[in-house]
Amino acid sequence: MRLLAATVSLGAALLVMTAPSYAAGGDAIFKKSCASCHYTNGPAKEKTIADQLAKKGPELWYAGSKFQKAWLAAWLQNPKAIRPMKYNSLTEANKGDHPKMSAGDAASVTDYLMGLTSPEVKAGVVKPNESVQAKAIFGKKMPCTGCHEYSVKGEVHGGKSGPSLVGASKRLNPDWVYAYLTNIKVFKPVRDMPDFASVLNPKDIENVAAYVATFE
Ligand code: HEC
Ligand code: HEC
Repeated sequence: MRLLAATVSLGAALLVMTAPSYAAGGDAIFKKSCASCHYTNGPAKEKTIADQLAKKGPELWYAGSKFQKAWLAAWLQNPKAIRPMKYNSLTEANKGDHPKMSAGDAASVTDYLMGLTSPEVKAGVVKPNESVQAKAIFGKKMPCTGCHEYSVKGEVHGGKSGPSLVGASKRLNPDWVYAYLTNIKVFKPVRDMPDFASVLNPKDIENVAAYVATFE
């Protein structure tokens, strides 16, 4: 038994020693440090809820469509909580202790993640815009503020069960917000976020996406 253990650990040591030494690219860094908590394969319809819950973090297979590049590179070096509650929980607070990356690794991983896009997201359609219609939908007609934080003159309001939308103008791609609100099932197998496609018409959804894209 002891001999077997020794052989196994010798084998493992040899494997480590013979692993090729190269300057790790973003995908290699991601596989090593990040893939245990984040999916990079999609779309969501190929996954069950159990698959989704098996990983602690949000799926990143459409990261290049969802995030703004500058935000991503900065956040990976200095991550701050986005979801006020612990992911997939409505009771525990999010401790915000996400792994931090060096500037160099963050740049490599950002390049890798920005290459992961969804064909569902049409680029360059939705421009940030604060319309009267969208303000009324977000703040009154629809329950968005019950679940999402947003800020007015630097003061944070709103509910905590969804991701915070504070700073969405720097974080999210408005075209992704539009695609997400239009066809949420492509992106998520689990939905605490309601499906608004049957409630809002495409123009309203576009207006709301454009409004979220102005959030400081
Ligand atoms: C122990 C699990 C864990 C590991 C390891 C991990 N993450 Fe995360 N990640 C999370 C959780 C949980 C969140 C949600 C945090 C929040 O919303 O405040 C998150 C959020 C993110 C986000 C924002 C996603 C979004 O949709 O808001 C990005 C980007 C990200 N992680 C990238 C990475 C990268 C790159 C690495 C490798 C260095 C990594 N993560 C390692 C758990 C992890
Ligand atoms: C009942 C609570 C609830 C309501 C109401 C709600 N949301 Fe959400 N929303 C969520 C949750 C929870 C998520 C995260 C889903 C996930 O990642 O699994 C989410 C995700 C989002 C995201 C993606 C954020 C990110 O970083 O991934 C956007 C954008 C969004 N909601 C906008 C809206 C808008 C606009 C409205 C109103 C039209 C709205 N939500 C109404 C709970 C809600």
